[in-house]
Amino acid sequence: NVLILDFGSQYTQLIARRVRELNIYCEIHPFNHLPNNIENFKAVILSGSPNSVRGTTVLHPDLSAIRGKKPLLAVCYGAQYLAHFSGGKVAPSNTREYGRANLSFVKKDEEFFENIHEGSQVWMSHSDTITDLPTNAVLLASTKDVENAAYKIEGEQTYAIQFHPEVYHSTDGKQLLANFLVRIAQVAQTWTPDSFVESTVAALQEKVGNDKVVLGLSGGVDSTVAAVLLHKAIGKNLYCIFVNNGLLRKNEFESVLAQYEGMGLNVKGVDASQRFLEKLAGLSDPEAKRKAIGNTFIDVFDDEAHQITDVKWLAQGTIYPDVIESVSVNGGPSATIKSHHNVGGLPDFMKLKIVEPLRMIFKDEVRRVGATLGIDPELLGRHPFPGPGLAIRILGDITAEKVRILQEVDAIFINGLKADGLYDKVWQAGAILLPVNSVGVMGDERTYEKVVALRAVESTDGMTADWVDLPYQFLQKTSNTIINQVKGVNRVVYDISSKPPATIEWE
Ligand code: XMP
Repeated sequence: NVLILDFGSQYTQLIARRVRELNIYCEIHPFNHLPNNIENFKAVILSGSPNSVRGTTVLHPDLSAIRGKKPLLAVCYGAQYLAHFSGGKVAPSNTREYGRANLSFVKKDEEFFENIHEGSQVWMSHSDTITDLPTNAVLLASTKDVENAAYKIEGEQTYAIQFHPEVYHSTDGKQLLANFLVRIAQVAQTWTPDSFVESTVAALQEKVGNDKVVLGLSGGVDSTVAAVLLHKAIGKNLYCIFVNNGLLRKNEFESVLAQYEGMGLNVKGVDASQRFLEKLAGLSDPEAKRKAIGNTFIDVFDDEAHQITDVKWLAQGTIYPDVIESVSVNGGPSATIKSHHNVGGLPDFMKLKIVEPLRMIFKDEVRRVGATLGIDPELLGRHPFPGPGLAIRILGDITAEKVRILQEVDAIFINGLKADGLYDKVWQAGAILLPVNSVGVMGDERTYEKVVALRAVESTDGMTADWVDLPYQFLQKTSNTIINQVKGVNRVVYDISSKPPATIEWE
């Protein structure tokens, strides 16, 4: 186990993902909320931070159980912190150091830099610099602009680096983390999808016993992997509910339901399309639509959960990025606990005990676990799809006819991406039905029909995104097919906005 203490850096989660890629388990905790079981952690990494050790809001970790007692790696702010408060000095950089740099000096015969040589590219992102090393420090590496780029403390297993090994642009970053964790800290590389499945199945059996568990399947990767894991652990005591809100992609409900049944899951498909459409009637405000869909889902799910006698647990596909406690820049830990409902007004199923088998793993690990479990790669590689579905891609109010039109357009676009081998190059794609009619000609007649927008983006987590440069020929073919085949649409446009400042969805 490796402990990562977070000081609010945008890269903290990346550190954790790199460590996990080495098949080493790690946890992120706020710098000022150390875990109770600190003795279980074999090594500690201090993250970077947007704060300065010279500022008014210095983030002070309590390192008394760590420093000199466990292998410690301090990154960026961490390195500056150790320097500034242990006999060294940190000053503002003359120039803000941001971006690629190369190691111009690497101390010979150091385990920490095993297989990393002078010239190696590293990623810098800091505005303070270490001008004097702390007491008992030995310089390990420099770049042209940053003399004190890496140091160790004599007599301790304490290492510090100014650059960011977790960022891909640090080409030997993973090697450096391996040198620290495997060579120096001697942490075992036993965290694999297989070992995760084995230990999670055992833990679920222990926790749930012979109780019944209910789980809402969405067709997405997380809920599917959570279901298959639970099914492996408790078999028929897992009751899955898959709700058709009438806003899914064309034929999605039937085909995904069949897939779930084929996987041996005990799943009930509930077609509540009409109920959702009725609740949405006349609503055009995006948040009102989201709320209506959320509330209707809760009602439908609650009705279904009541049909299962003696159910004790609600399973959810929550993943690690949703549970990491974030650190706010002014130093306070900001617990981001999502509370959708007021206590007291909770539907019955939300009073069940919660089980979240994926709460300690990242999205890429969910996919690897899914592959180990034998889930169809096509299902694991599906694009994300928003919970409110096509309702937030039909701008304005929703009618059955608009849903039908958009389903047809979307199917042509998505199937086209698959047929041309473009689907896996895109992170998310979909079509948007615009609330305007535009003029067209058909034969000698003028038409006033709908405009649709196509959107395809590249992203890693949806927080930022870039539009995808799809081939013109593909766009041309797709546009022709849509206009020829989908009655009611006479114009297709392609969205070339990035996020920020735009968002992925249009509502
Ligand atoms: P935006 O539009 O905010 O979308 O750039 C980022 C990601 O979130 C998805 N999204 C939603 N997912 N309920 C969801 O479950 C929603 O209301 C919702 N709105 C946006 C969006 O599809 C993208 O993947």
